[in-house]
Order: sequence, then structure tokens, then C-alpha cells
Amino acid sequence: MRYPRIDYSKIRAHWAPNIAFAQHQNATSIIPAPVEPWLIKVLQRAKDKLPAGKVELDTEMTAFIGQESQHFRQHRMFNKVIAAQGYPRLAEFEKQLADDLDGFFKNRSLKFMLAYADGFESLGAVQGGIWFGKMDHLLEGADENAVALWKWHMAEEFEHREVCFRIYHALYSRGLWGKIWNGYFYRIYGCVYAMMHLQGYMARMFQYLIDQDRAHMSEAAKVQLDADVKALKKFQLGVFFPQLLKNFLPWYNPGRKPTPVGLFEYLRQYEKSAEPAN
Ligand SMILES: [Fe+2]
Ligand SMILES: [Fe+2]
Repeated sequence: MRYPRIDYSKIRAHWAPNIAFAQHQNATSIIPAPVEPWLIKVLQRAKDKLPAGKVELDTEMTAFIGQESQHFRQHRMFNKVIAAQGYPRLAEFEKQLADDLDGFFKNRSLKFMLAYADGFESLGAVQGGIWFGKMDHLLEGADENAVALWKWHMAEEFEHREVCFRIYHALYSRGLWGKIWNGYFYRIYGCVYAMMHLQGYMARMFQYLIDQDRAHMSEAAKVQLDADVKALKKFQLGVFFPQLLKNFLPWYNPGRKPTPVGLFEYLRQYEKSAEPAN
């Protein structure tokens, strides 16, 4: 676990030169606030079901829980600063998502929740690979505190990318039929479900954020925002989605993803000297 000390107080909603990119990240930042505490509860439930002898995986799950517990705390601080800049409805979206997840916890199987969790985690693994080296053009001139939150979080997502995948397989991918049905088809179902569910929230929140912006913009600023949205979509289609498609390959294994250059070196600055966040 690492405890970054990030000063959120001066971060503006438009913290990157491409406003659409900044607002898309601001929308994305709402997601971990309810999802990661839920993930922790799901993993705690899964821990009780771990087959005997999975000591290493059990230790990794404990580390995962520790990391996620810091992630959502940091995002809540960031989200509070953003929402206070004219986006009060973000809290409503967050509440709706928390209610959905609560419903899953009460009504859906552990298998479903772990498949969903693995889908969510696979998004983090993809992002980890992108934040280090594939989006420098979007980060040029961006607020360094906002960038620090994302780089730290996405690097740790990359670091623990295998945990949910491994528990899911340890519990459900057993025997030939289990490997084919649960190990592939049901995993894909959980992954697609998580992506569509979360993408729906992100799209609605992003639209809300830029609609709020547009209401106070000059015509010239609106034209610039349209250009930013276009550049963001181009980046997502060209860089993010091709990486995401790899999740659907039958031989997909997050553990085999090559480590992005500089990712662990970046994390080193948050080790040792820091103190826990509240
Ligand atoms: Fe996280
Ligand atoms: Fe994670």
C-alpha cells in the first residue's frame, strides 16, 4: 500500500488543456467511489470461499483490499472538489451507482460479482498501460496533482490486475466444462455487463459535465470544446478500445500484459515516507 499526499484544493474541473479529456476523467473518477468499497466487500466474501492452500492468492487479496481502500478515499476527495465547481448532480449519479451495486450484493451470485469485478479490473489494467507512455500529448500542460491521482491509481491497478481474475478462476474455472463455460463465456458475460453498466454511467456523467460547461461558454469556446470531444473520441477509438478488445480473447491473461516502461519507478515516489490518508 502507498499513501500519496496529493493537494486537491487547487484542482480545477478543466485541469487539462483538452477540456473534454479532463471532464471525461472527472466523470470516470465518480466510478471508483462506490465501486471500490463494493469490490472490497465482494473480495471479503470470496476470501471465505477460497480453496485450501491458496495462501499466496489470499495474501494478494489482502493487499488488493488495502490498495482499493486508499483509491476510493483519494477519489472522494478529488470528486468533492470537482462537484463544488458547478456540478452538484454528480452526487446523484454516484448514489444511483451505489444502489445498483448494493442490489448486486443482495441479489446476485458471488460468481456474477467476481466476473463483474474482473471486468472492472480489466479496465484498470488497460488504463495502466495507457497512462504510462500512450497519452503524453493529453497530459502536456495538465495540473500535476490531478495527473498524480490518476497515474498513482492506474499504476496500482496495473500492479494488482491479476487478483480478481485469479480468484474468479480459482473458484469457478474447474474441470473441462468449468474452464469453457465459466472460464470463458461467463467471464466475458461479466466483463461485458460491467463495461456496459459503467460506460452508461460515464457517458451520462460526461454529457452532464459538458452540458453544464456549454451553458456558460462563448461561441468560440463551444467550437473548441467540440474539437476537444472529437480529439478525445479519436484517442479512445485508436488507443483505448483496441487494448480493451484483447480481454475477449480466450487466452487472455492480465498477468501476461507487458509492464509499461516507468510504471513501477513512478510508484516508488509514494513508498515509505508518506502517511495514510484519512
Ligand atoms: Fe482502484
Ligand atoms: Fe483495482
